[in-house]
Amino acid sequence: MTDVLGQTWRVLRDRFATAGIETAALDARLLVRHVLDLDETGLIARESEPFPEQKRDDLEALAARRLAGEPMARIFGRQEFYGFTFGLNPATLIPRPETEMLVDFGLDVLKTESAAQILDLGTGTGCIVLSLLANLPGARGVGIDIAPAALDMANHNAKALGLSERFTTLGGDWFSPLEADARFDLIVSNPPYIASAVIETLAPGVRVFDPGAALDGGIDGLAPYRIIAAQGAGFLKPGGRLALEIGFDQAQMVKGILQDAGWQTISVYKDIAGHDRMVVARVSKA
Ligand SMILES: C[S@@+](CC[C@H](N)C(=O)[O-])C[C@H]1O[C@@H](n2cnc3c(N)ncnc32)[C@H](O)[C@@H]1O
Repeated sequence: MTDVLGQTWRVLRDRFATAGIETAALDARLLVRHVLDLDETGLIARESEPFPEQKRDDLEALAARRLAGEPMARIFGRQEFYGFTFGLNPATLIPRPETEMLVDFGLDVLKTESAAQILDLGTGTGCIVLSLLANLPGARGVGIDIAPAALDMANHNAKALGLSERFTTLGGDWFSPLEADARFDLIVSNPPYIASAVIETLAPGVRVFDPGAALDGGIDGLAPYRIIAAQGAGFLKPGGRLALEIGFDQAQMVKGILQDAGWQTISVYKDIAGHDRMVVARVSKA
């Protein structure tokens, strides 16, 4: 017997819930909507209509991916961040909501700059720097990443947001692709900060589906911070700022690394869950 749409998504919801998926109902509705190209209102309006059987295999294929632990953002190939939609590919991390605080900080400190220059180290989808550029019409940004496919996606996202003319990507290891005389008002980075040995303990949605290069911060998770602390000041204008996302238990260590490298006015900010999540620092105005 053919199911109606309402029955189809409820059966899927129950399968997801049995598998321990916390957002079972939402995910089931989104997948049914996706295969039928319906918005939420359309699904509500057609709850009693038969599910088209020729779409059953498409729905099952997506359901199998979700049941295997693949995040919805990977299945759809996109994620919302700071009110914008960012495309994803296998080389890019799924942007996380806590990273939005780097954008808040950047907008606050650059609001009086008419032509700010921004550097985003480990840009991935470009979510941080592109969200800044979208809100700072006179600003220009550079996104660096070691993964060429991530830069392809950052450029795709810049184009989709109409920001290509103010955004440049450079491939390579942290600061190495920059000209020696490049100077920025703000350097932002959400570097890989998981200790290598911890990666295998992470949930499958992260461990299997996020790229290793986006997670692995070396033996103690702090290797990228040491490089950024050592070299970052040389690429900032006088008075320029550095904003780094950190792991919830890394504030004191990252602060120490920055202090040892000569950074000033170092501050730690908490995310909305109350975890230390961002460290900012300045170079002197002289
Ligand atoms: C945690 S992800 C952050 C991605 C994006 N900025 C975000 O916040 O969603 C870290 C990024 O750093 C990049 N990366 C890793 N090692 C790097 C290196 N040595 N030089 C430049 N980028 C690197 C990864 O490819 C990845 O895109």
